[in-house]
Amino acid sequence: MRIALGADHAGFHLKDSLKRTLDEIGVTYQDFGTSSAESVDYPDFAQAVAAGVASGEFDRGILVCGTGIGMAIAANKVPGIRAAAITDTDTAKLSREHNDLNVLTLGARGTPEARAGDIVTVFLATPFAGGRHALRVSKIHQIEK
Ligand code: RB5
Repeated sequence: MRIALGADHAGFHLKDSLKRTLDEIGVTYQDFGTSSAESVDYPDFAQAVAAGVASGEFDRGILVCGTGIGMAIAANKVPGIRAAAITDTDTAKLSREHNDLNVLTLGARGTPEARAGDIVTVFLATPFAGGRHALRVSKIHQIEK
């Protein structure tokens, strides 16, 4: 599994901590930045990561900003992306099973490192349930057309 990682200045610390989780799980990743506290614009990183996932170069994306919300809004503008701000492992699991979430967004201001690592672990381990959910996901993408 190949993961595209990105963050803005509010999320880069948490993004770096998530690399340890990804190393432990044994997945490969590419870091699209940012890598400092210098102020940047989150849509730039959301677009880069989302485009990488939508093109098929990466299997999933993980984006971190202050709240996770701006990253989710921006990533969802890229056709083929299903992004959501996730705050707990229960919704991480359901977002995979029901929505086939392909971009996880996290809010660094409200998500401790340990919980973020758990959310990422569940996000990467949980398969899409398919069935009735596949029809619903296909209807989401009909809206893009
Ligand atoms: C940056 O200050 C902040 O707006 C950003 O990290 C994010 O929370 C936006 O949704």
